[in-house]
Amino acid sequence: MRCCQSATRMAGQMPDEGGSRKPEGPVREHYASEGVAARVLTALRVVSGQDVAITPETLAPIDHFHGRGVVATEELAAMLQPRVGDHVLDIGSGIGGPARWIAAKFGCRVTGVDLTPGFCEAARELNRLTGLAGQINIMHGSALALPAPDAAFDRAYSQAVLMNIADKRGFLREAFRVLRPGGLLALSFVGAGPAGEPYYPLPWATTTATSFLVTPDEIRSELLTAGFQIVALRDASAEVAAALAPVLTQLETEGLPPLGEHVVTGEGAKEWRINAMRSLRDRRTSTIEALARKPA
Ligand SMILES: C[S@@+](CC[C@H](N)C(=O)[O-])C[C@H]1O[C@@H](n2cnc3c(N)ncnc32)[C@H](O)[C@@H]1O
Repeated sequence: MRCCQSATRMAGQMPDEGGSRKPEGPVREHYASEGVAARVLTALRVVSGQDVAITPETLAPIDHFHGRGVVATEELAAMLQPRVGDHVLDIGSGIGGPARWIAAKFGCRVTGVDLTPGFCEAARELNRLTGLAGQINIMHGSALALPAPDAAFDRAYSQAVLMNIADKRGFLREAFRVLRPGGLLALSFVGAGPAGEPYYPLPWATTTATSFLVTPDEIRSELLTAGFQIVALRDASAEVAAALAPVLTQLETEGLPPLGEHVVTGEGAKEWRINAMRSLRDRRTSTIEALARKPA
């Protein structure tokens, strides 16, 4: 742990013996939502017509449930390189957009695990409507106690989830356990920035209570402690901030587009997204991408 971390960050990162899953309650409350699939379908049909095909592509503006949309999922998949027939684990699968994208584009089986019951229900319904239910299994559960046996997966990924995880060590221990020897783990998430605390409320946390941000060096150290070999780890903040600059301007001047994550989260999403983009622009957060391997 670095001496210069803020009290908030220190408190969030301390492995809490026997109680490391305590912050999950507030995280579950933050995301709790009912009737998500119906809202997604209504919004899509209003914009694209009643007869719109329900596919990973048509759902993509809504169901990649984080600030960077399907582009981030494509970048993650390019790192992970799933192969036909692989069994891939999605840790914190949300409403299933990334799982559907990866199952459909790469011909692999995907198991998604998520803490939020309403998101698991939505994911299952959208899997059914896209004809992908046979390829994707969604399980309600915690990243800190994955409902899967040892060495069950060829590859695993987690996108826009680690910000909500206080116990990074427990998260990585579980990911390591369920990967087969030689298996790969790809991570993409918001990390701490050098210029102070981010602006709240944010999409993953309305207050500091559910936000646990680490630096690239800190996640590197945790990956190594868990036993992973690091294939690649980078701070992608500058390029992501540049890519999001026009999106931030558009959001500030024109407001939310017709389709987006606000269909899931509600109108508060505008302020949350603006804060997320300003925090990255002002170096109060970072964008971290990592690829790690469980030794063969
Ligand atoms: C910002 S969403 C990202 C969802 C998805 N990965 C995506 O990219 O579309 C964060 C997700 O992490 C899930 N999550 C947070 N903490 C979790 C935990 N401890 N175990 C499992 N899922 C968790 C939330 O329920 C939520 O669905």
